[in-house]
Amino acid sequence: MQVEANRGPIEELDVQALAVAVFKNEKSDEGFIKKLDELSGGLVSSALEAEEFVGKEGETCYFHLVGNNKLKARRLLLIGAGEPDDYKLGEISQLVGTAVRSLRSKNAKSIAVVPRASGNAEETAATAVQGAFIGLFDPDKYRTVEKEQKTIDRLVVVIEGAEDGAVERGVETGRIVGEAINFTRDLANEPGAYMTPTDMAERAREIANEFGLSIDVLDEARMEQEGMGSLLSVARGSDQPAKLIILKYTPANATVDSSELLTFVGKGVTFDSGGISLKPGENMELMKYDMTGGATVLGAMRAIAQLKPPIPVLGVAPCTENLPSGKATKPGDVVKAMTGKTIEIINTDAEGRLILADAIAYAKKLGATKVIDMATLTGAVSIALGDVNAAVLGTDQELIDEIISAGREVGEKFWQLPLDKEYSKQIKSDIADIKNVGGRKAGTITAAAFLKEFADGISWAHLDIAGTAWGDDAKPYRSKGPTGIAVRTLLRIVDRASKQA
Ligand code: BES
Ligand code: ZN
Ligand code: ZN
Repeated sequence: MQVEANRGPIEELDVQALAVAVFKNEKSDEGFIKKLDELSGGLVSSALEAEEFVGKEGETCYFHLVGNNKLKARRLLLIGAGEPDDYKLGEISQLVGTAVRSLRSKNAKSIAVVPRASGNAEETAATAVQGAFIGLFDPDKYRTVEKEQKTIDRLVVVIEGAEDGAVERGVETGRIVGEAINFTRDLANEPGAYMTPTDMAERAREIANEFGLSIDVLDEARMEQEGMGSLLSVARGSDQPAKLIILKYTPANATVDSSELLTFVGKGVTFDSGGISLKPGENMELMKYDMTGGATVLGAMRAIAQLKPPIPVLGVAPCTENLPSGKATKPGDVVKAMTGKTIEIINTDAEGRLILADAIAYAKKLGATKVIDMATLTGAVSIALGDVNAAVLGTDQELIDEIISAGREVGEKFWQLPLDKEYSKQIKSDIADIKNVGGRKAGTITAAAFLKEFADGISWAHLDIAGTAWGDDAKPYRSKGPTGIAVRTLLRIVDRASKQA
């Protein structure tokens, strides 16, 4: 899809369809809507006066512009934007997602979107484009019949009155971020057979070569040398070799304090059967997306390489399958992590924390000072927070607050869970330093308490995205399937850190 910036006027837009945001209870006799009403030959006031459409968030109203009107576009879609005060970046993204999905289904090939946000034009344009990319992602890659065949070839983002260059810059950023989010979703959506640890490493190499990142991929022999007994214990049951992917972005002319190394670490379990502690069959197919944390790191690094912030960023993705076999780790086994800590494996299905433990330790060895890890770590997080909020926990309250507020700005929700030291009692082992599960109570917290054992001496926060990484239902603004949660927030954090630097 070709994306273009435009500063109006809307009557001159040479597209098949025009999509315009309309606020709740907006009047048709003043401002932009008055102008749109005149241009459309009175259609807008007719719909508003009939109260067929009142501008509620997500509402749509669609017209064919036949007869007496002054717009070049032959079709018009009004989209409810809700209350102006609540119309933030997350809402803009969803509104544009709704617009493109709706117009694509009506076979429009070229469309213009008028988001009508009052804020910064560059940011609005970036968010609009990113929302369009999110909206147009389809998970049906392997369908050969009744596939979504329609495509939007050209998208024009219109911000009237914007300063010269702002919409162009925003459109470019939006494309980079939108493509990164869909890159992550595409990886998460792939069947386990086509997204093995080796495949993930290959995709990481492609990004590194195409966009200019340094890359290192540790194979099992090197993990052995590093003493990563925890990560390796998960890989033991599989015929696919584990990979530890390291991507690094270094700014061309580093002018800033290089002692800080922001690092993203993501769980890359390319299929989680549970191992010897085998999962029930129902929904097990979804465990292909247990590598979403790793894919999120890859997606974020892909965007960072193109956005070129002035600060360095490290990305780490431990990748492995978790399968049962005659070689697999058994409940009761004891393994030794890179830090020397011994771990009693109680349940082989609590594998994510085992691979993250060594990945965080290795990130520290590479100089990481500020680590955000992300993982589809616990089913318990869905019980606590459903599919609305991801959980955030950690040892650095400032970093946690930063994640929550960056998320809020871009429309991604994170809710903090406590991590008091008392919870760590639940992971004490009788025969080793710690054990990998902490019983039925507070499963998301005890998983984080386990990770905390490996995050001493650094600023650390953990995101549990098990409940938010996969959408069970389609929304008007996106398909069902992988959501791409956290990519935007991570990029926002990098952006904020860049501005402070
Ligand atoms: N990958 C799962 C968590 C998960 C569940 C992700 C549902 C996405 C959707 C993780 O490895 C796991 O199995 N965790 C166990 C931990 C338990 C054994 C302590 C869980 O949540 O049941
Ligand atoms: Zn598991
Ligand atoms: Zn898992």
